[in-house]
Amino acid sequence: MKALQLTDQGDDTIILNEIDKPEPNANEVLVQVKAAALNHRDQWCREGKYPALKVGVTLGSDGAGIVVGLGKNVSNNWLNQEVIINPNIDWGDNPLVQSANYHILGMPSDGTFAEYLVINENRLALKPKHLTFEQAAAIPLAGMTAYRALMIKGGYQDSFKVLVTGIGGGVSQSAAMILSALGGNYYVTSGSEEKIEKAKTLGAKGGFNYKDKGWWKDALKVTGGFDLIIDSAGGNHVNTYLKVIKSAGKIVFYGSTAGAPESVDMFRLFWSQASLIGSTMANDDEFTAMIKLVTENKINPIVDSIRPFDEIVNAFNDMRDAKQFGKLVIKMD
Ligand SMILES: NC(=O)c1ccc[n+]([C@@H]2O[C@H](COP(=O)([O-])OP(=O)(O)OC[C@H]3O[C@@H](n4cnc5c(N)ncnc54)[C@H](OP(=O)(O)O)[C@@H]3O)[C@@H](O)[C@H]2O)c1
Repeated sequence: MKALQLTDQGDDTIILNEIDKPEPNANEVLVQVKAAALNHRDQWCREGKYPALKVGVTLGSDGAGIVVGLGKNVSNNWLNQEVIINPNIDWGDNPLVQSANYHILGMPSDGTFAEYLVINENRLALKPKHLTFEQAAAIPLAGMTAYRALMIKGGYQDSFKVLVTGIGGGVSQSAAMILSALGGNYYVTSGSEEKIEKAKTLGAKGGFNYKDKGWWKDALKVTGGFDLIIDSAGGNHVNTYLKVIKSAGKIVFYGSTAGAPESVDMFRLFWSQASLIGSTMANDDEFTAMIKLVTENKINPIVDSIRPFDEIVNAFNDMRDAKQFGKLVIKMD
């Protein structure tokens, strides 16, 4: 079968290899992957910027497919079911934080960028019926990260005015789709006017271009400030967010694409009684709650494009260059 693997040979660190089809162990199932989706994490692995990288691992955290084989302990009920995969591996017993053994499917365990995947049956969820395989594959990692950042760590309430930053991002768009479904009052930032305009057609009340240094003044004028900001850029944007967060508001970070800030405006931080909060992925119960929310509200993910498996490296390049608006999805057959 074909699989996109991390390699230390050749010009690129990712390569489409021909490898043996895996066999499920006792508690595992064999899933024929129908579609998989890219996350920035996959590009971080390609660039050697992810911890504990192992060559020869099949990348990919997001996937949807059909169960075509069962380990000896797995119920027959799973056979032929259409499923999506929960990419959490070993979250552990504490709902507040992942265990020391925690990792995400696709590094160091083999992931979804393959024609077949073996995975513990407890990682399966039924595919919401309103979604195609390609749409379903776009949901898990971004959806669960957005859900925890917004609903759990951000404590979202209907009365909130929310800022979702970098709306070109997969997690940001998942948050936007959740907010749109809930009738939320939300605004976005982006480095692209075009992406801001698209976000407005999907439910954002307005948007600001973070490349314009004074964007926060417009944001304050238009909105009066935000109760909640969710962000994955970090860097010096942190101090700008402290200018537009309302007193006692929350700023939730689930990434740090722009690195660490040179300094933090400590005065604004303590005087505003604001909270800077970290968030990562979501525990298994939150994953289930996110899928329920998607199903009940018939939420559709934003899909930029669906590419054939042979073009997956081009899809990585587009993600690296932030060209997409929506998830980059790979169709396996
Ligand atoms: N902790 C977790 O569980 C978790 C889960 C998922 C992702 N992440 C992290 O979150 C980040 C985004 O992931 P993703 O998969 O959503 O990525 P993505 O789909 O590739 O989107 C990244 C977006 O971030 C925005 N951005 C990039 N550089 C920026 C900067 N300097 N300032 C402001 N915005 C910037 C851009 O938005 P515009 O195009 O609109 O300008 C870009 O489209 C990555 O760092 C990733 O590792 C963490």
